[in-house]
Amino acid sequence: MAVETVIILAAGDGTRMKSRQAKVLHSVAGRSLLGHVLAAVNHVNPHNIRIVVGANRTSVEAHIADISPSTTTVFQEVRGGTGHATQLALADRAPAGTVLVLAGDTPMLTGQSLEAFLAAHNEGNFAASVLTAEHPEPTGYGRIIRDDNDELLRIVEERDATEDQKFIAEINSGVYAFDGAKLVSAIGQINNSNAQGELYLTDVIGILKSAGESIAAIMLEDFTEILGVNDRVQLAESAALLRDRINDQWMRDGVTIVDPTTTWIDATVVLANDVTIHPGSAILGTTTIATGAVIGPRTTLTNCVVKEGASVLESLAVDTIIGESATVGPFTYLRSGTVLGDSSKAGAFVEMKNATVGTGSKVPHLSYVGDATIGEGSNIGAATIFVNYDGVDKHHTTVGDHVRIGSDTMLVAPVSIGDGAYTAAGSVITENVPAGAIGVGRAKQRNVIGWVLRKRAGSKSAQAAEASQTKG
Ligand code: UD1
Ligand code: CA
Repeated sequence: MAVETVIILAAGDGTRMKSRQAKVLHSVAGRSLLGHVLAAVNHVNPHNIRIVVGANRTSVEAHIADISPSTTTVFQEVRGGTGHATQLALADRAPAGTVLVLAGDTPMLTGQSLEAFLAAHNEGNFAASVLTAEHPEPTGYGRIIRDDNDELLRIVEERDATEDQKFIAEINSGVYAFDGAKLVSAIGQINNSNAQGELYLTDVIGILKSAGESIAAIMLEDFTEILGVNDRVQLAESAALLRDRINDQWMRDGVTIVDPTTTWIDATVVLANDVTIHPGSAILGTTTIATGAVIGPRTTLTNCVVKEGASVLESLAVDTIIGESATVGPFTYLRSGTVLGDSSKAGAFVEMKNATVGTGSKVPHLSYVGDATIGEGSNIGAATIFVNYDGVDKHHTTVGDHVRIGSDTMLVAPVSIGDGAYTAAGSVITENVPAGAIGVGRAKQRNVIGWVLRKRAGSKSAQAAEASQTKG
């Protein structure tokens, strides 16, 4: 399957979004609305794609350059309607072959449905085909008018429809396939004598029909695929529908999703079979998760790589690699550049950033590990802080293999702890500790005998101390 030209209409003001951002840049399931449409369109291998932009032109063009660099944009300065936008997209070059036209605000549309639609269009050798569906609440959409033989006559917009026509449940999806040459000749004949005073692309259908061309309305089974996003309510509806579609697919592919209604997986995520995801989790961006891994509950992973058999409990991780059989959480925050080796551990209330933890090394409790390299088989005692920031610059800490960092150590970077070395609990380590040494960086303890009896005489503490003395 291949199609010559695709025109995506995305110039609209998106007024009902009440947003500073262009409507087509709002995102669901990890892609912009336009990104979803482009993903579906790419499924049918277009030779060229032209996107009509207008409102928020600069940011929309920057986004297109980012996600689909080979795509051309056409600028529509004033919104003259979908017919006007299509005229502009055709102006510089009349396309040969099939032209697919669709809107940039229908994120649910699948590549498979586009493929089937184009196949039906090509097979019937139609001058024009329109993708339709029966919608339980058709208000707002263009209605499909058929004749007594059930053949497509034309499309009537909601605001131009008679009371009787408003009862028609079959709606125009806004997805069309045209014979390029016939589209070019018909698009020059549309006018703006309608309720909105706009040039309607939909009028091309009636014009071609009157000219005796064969046109077709091709109906889609699942009307949810053509839902357009015009406001934030529809944005949330399409996000929920996409969530269900994505989760269903992963469950069919062997992923256990304990509660699909509270599990949000972006369209861009890749999961292996026998991954388990517990409730309240979000798996986002380019995250990939290998078989046997257990995620959640209440875990968010953004752009992470999770290897086989790892587990991540009640945690947040961004741009992080989690090694095979590594364990994370609960309540762990892994920031950009964290690499956890195989069988390593980032335990409760641990934060890491730009840190590499070697195979089998453990940071079990209450630590901050920033800008660090930790070797293999080392243990970082509870409440250890990697002091990476001197108030101006960030510095690196290196910890070797099989090191034992005592609890509550401050490792003041830049500093390095040699292989097999120890640090004493409570140390402030400002100088390198050689391999096999113990670094002790703290004041020697002294006990002032009788201090409580003298300074806190009569207190419960003093009484307890006295009782303890008489006990001998
Ligand atoms: C349009 C169809 C309607 C169909 C519905 C499906 C027309 C006249 N009506 O209505 O039959 O049921 O889509 O969702 O085509 N756009 C431009 N330039 C413009 C106007 C619009 O690029 O001057 C773009 C918009 O950004 C949007 C798309 O075209 O992506 C559709 O425009 P919109 O105003 O949303 O049309 P609807 O009223 O939804
Ligand atoms: Ca619309």
